[in-house]
Amino acid sequence: MSRREMSTSPNPESGRAAKRPRVEHLTSESFKNGVFLAPMVRSGALPTRLMALKHGATLVWGPEVVDKAILHAERAVDPLTGVVSYNGKSRAIFTTHQVEKPYLIYQIGSASPELAVQAAKTVVQDVSGIDLNCGCPKPFSTHAGMGAALLSKPDLLCDILTALRRELPPEVTVSAKIRLLPTQAETKKLVERIVRTGVSALTVHCRTRNMRPREAALIERLREIVDFVQGLGVDIAVIENGDCQGWEDAKRIKKLTGASSVMVATAAESNPTCFSSTPLMDLETTLIPSYLRMSKYLDNYWALTKFCVSQFKAPRTERSKSEAHEYKTKIIAAKGYDDLTELVGGGSGEADFAEVVSAIQSRRPRRLIVEDSPTELEAPELDTSASSADYSSEEDLPLSTPPDRPNPEPPTLCAPLGPSTISRMPLPALITGSDAITPSPTPKAVTP
Ligand SMILES: Cc1cc2nc3c(=O)[nH]c(=O)nc-3n(C[C@H](O)[C@H](O)[C@H](O)COP(=O)(O)O)c2cc1C
Repeated sequence: MSRREMSTSPNPESGRAAKRPRVEHLTSESFKNGVFLAPMVRSGALPTRLMALKHGATLVWGPEVVDKAILHAERAVDPLTGVVSYNGKSRAIFTTHQVEKPYLIYQIGSASPELAVQAAKTVVQDVSGIDLNCGCPKPFSTHAGMGAALLSKPDLLCDILTALRRELPPEVTVSAKIRLLPTQAETKKLVERIVRTGVSALTVHCRTRNMRPREAALIERLREIVDFVQGLGVDIAVIENGDCQGWEDAKRIKKLTGASSVMVATAAESNPTCFSSTPLMDLETTLIPSYLRMSKYLDNYWALTKFCVSQFKAPRTERSKSEAHEYKTKIIAAKGYDDLTELVGGGSGEADFAEVVSAIQSRRPRRLIVEDSPTELEAPELDTSASSADYSSEEDLPLSTPPDRPNPEPPTLCAPLGPSTISRMPLPALITGSDAITPSPTPKAVTP
């Protein structure tokens, strides 16, 4: 394990940078009028979530973790940084930090009420909400009855949500993320059952199970579902997911759909500052150096950091395409953080982390208000270093799925540790003594 020596202290606030969260706990109101970072295996790593929060994300979802994977993990707190790691035999399965706890939703992959509850209880002290993944269409998830397979097993889906709601403390929210079903009638039927389980929020990824990520999301179908939920008289937030490009675009989507909030995945994978009304450009100078230094300080798994950085893309004003390419190539060629000193400067990264922590802790409420409200209430931007974005060059459009990526979802699966086919399923760590290998990143993006 590459991580530093850790304390297994049960106190999650033992890290130096950790402070008592200001938000006591989330309610269904907390899921309204926001723009959220979507759950993303690998791409939703801790440094990315922290950057998203710094730049205005209202709440952040962690990457899906399959229930059984976390059950055998050992919780440890880095006494230097306060990073909380759930360690498997050979590496961390999930990492977090107290500074994100007030905003952090932990996503579970499960097909069992009992395992889901156990998994949720394992991490509950470090998160504010538990979300059930009911939308991943990848074989790894669906063959085990998880993810999108739950869409065709509504009894089981609702049993899991009901069990989570019943067994978890009331201050921890329970939510679900689904996809659209082929027809509106089927979707509404499922939605009605889900909202009656006591969830605080329901995210609807506006693609059906069979749709490719590159196909345009069927956003226009959501309005009817939102109205339907309102008609049921239950106070839960309906969150739109699909094709949102960031804060400004979220206004359009909210207005179109009537959704309570909007969730962003691919665009945030490209640029975690898209939650700002002035997202950073020239990421090679404005974001990546501090991202890398902070990741080093947090001892974030190097291959994961490298993968996330390899996905970053935004308009450039300072560098040519070839210069930016050269910069990324150097990062990709690096074997570890120590190889980057020339590129991003020395130092421990502590100051970068402290700055992010301070920005998150000094956030003022920021609400995405459209339609009936004449004003949009917005706190001053936390980071004013960026000039206003110029997205005029189509070649540089940063916030869409890159054309060379056939599938922006994690390669072949939605679980962090699993293989692409059933025949390559690993034996559990308890039997083999070592954790399954993380799926290797898209070959084009990262050369190990
Ligand atoms: C790299 C990547 C990883 C993803 N991992 C998850 C996941 O762990 N859980 C989940 O529910 N959806 C996952 N998704 C799907 C997204 O959360 C989201 O539903 C989908 O990308 C549509 O949003 P978008 O149009 O903004 O990209 C992932 C998507 C991407 C691009």
